[in-house]
Amino acid sequence: MSKELPIKNIFLTGGSGKVGGALLPELVKAGYKVRALRFDNEEINCPGVQEIIDGDLRDKTLAHRMLKDMDAVIHLANCKENRDLFLESNVAGTFYLLDEAWQCGHIQQFIQAGSDARAGIYYYPRPFPIDENFPHAGYPGYYSLSKVLEETLCEQIRIQRGLAITVLRFSWVMGQDDILAHATLKGPRFGVPIWKEIAETPEQKKFVAEGLDAACRMDHLDGMPGMRHVVGLPDVVSAILLAVGNKAAIGKAFPIAAPAPFAYDVLSEYISKKLDIPVLRFKVPEFNDFRHDISFSRSVLGYNPVYDIFKIVDDAIAFRKAGKKRIDPKYIG
Ligand SMILES: NC(=O)c1ccc[n+]([C@@H]2O[C@H](COP(=O)([O-])OP(=O)(O)OC[C@H]3O[C@@H](n4cnc5c(N)ncnc54)[C@H](O)[C@@H]3O)[C@@H](O)[C@H]2O)c1
Repeated sequence: MSKELPIKNIFLTGGSGKVGGALLPELVKAGYKVRALRFDNEEINCPGVQEIIDGDLRDKTLAHRMLKDMDAVIHLANCKENRDLFLESNVAGTFYLLDEAWQCGHIQQFIQAGSDARAGIYYYPRPFPIDENFPHAGYPGYYSLSKVLEETLCEQIRIQRGLAITVLRFSWVMGQDDILAHATLKGPRFGVPIWKEIAETPEQKKFVAEGLDAACRMDHLDGMPGMRHVVGLPDVVSAILLAVGNKAAIGKAFPIAAPAPFAYDVLSEYISKKLDIPVLRFKVPEFNDFRHDISFSRSVLGYNPVYDIFKIVDDAIAFRKAGKKRIDPKYIG
């Protein structure tokens, strides 16, 4: 089952979240025995999961109980932009898990969910592309700070204790109809910019006032389209499955992004054609283009993402056509 490390029993945090909810059935399908942590009475509906246990990352005694008989940890749980909670839930919570994973002596691999937020992405001008060696330099905010601190804990526990840790740094994850919620004017809002709030031209204001829909194109001040690198949820799941039990992944951090970045002219034209709505252009001064170099993940993990921006849009349209109910993600992107 596992590629090289003898991993059978996995403790999973965040199993009811966006990534965890998609990952859990695939872990079960792959034959792993999963103990899933449930928090806040959130639903975990996955036939075949070995155990579902209620618990809070802030509980210092949790890790000792949860890691008993486990071979690996996949740590996805965290809270998002929350000043009051992030230190206890994300930072202390990650520390308790890492410390116990080292102390108990039987954890073969600890997989930590990282984020490209740790590199500050569009907030600052960055090398083009950003690779795995780019130093941590988060954008302003508690979430980004938390992802830097979680990774720093992982790095130090790996150095100090020799714990076998793999970090997977996801880009902004696109599932459900997220890309449409992001890149169209009407309907649910997802991510930044918030088009309605930055509407300033008479045309933009008319669209907003009349409740019209449009495919939103983000431009720089010189009219060039913005560029951004996201990732499809199924590719994130495939990256985690490739990492589990993979000896070559130990002690490394991997950028996990789509096969290529997208430019907003291409995205907005595609959505416009598919949904038969016009394109509306917005000038956004504070956005810096970014792209991730995933060649390290391709060569070491065998990561081979297939969700380009067109497939992500097609899936989002299919999601809406099927009448599925959108669950608002906690991380707005
Ligand atoms: N969604 C993205 O775009 C994205 C991008 C990059 C990285 N990531 C990372 O991937 C991981 C999973 O993200 P997601 O989008 O699935 O998150 P999510 O918010 O959908 O799910 C997070 C889960 O953490 C649980 N949780 C929160 N506080 C807890 C606590 N105190 N104790 C126990 N459980 C708690 C929640 O119940 C939830 O199930 C996170 O570490 C996140 O930082 C996500």
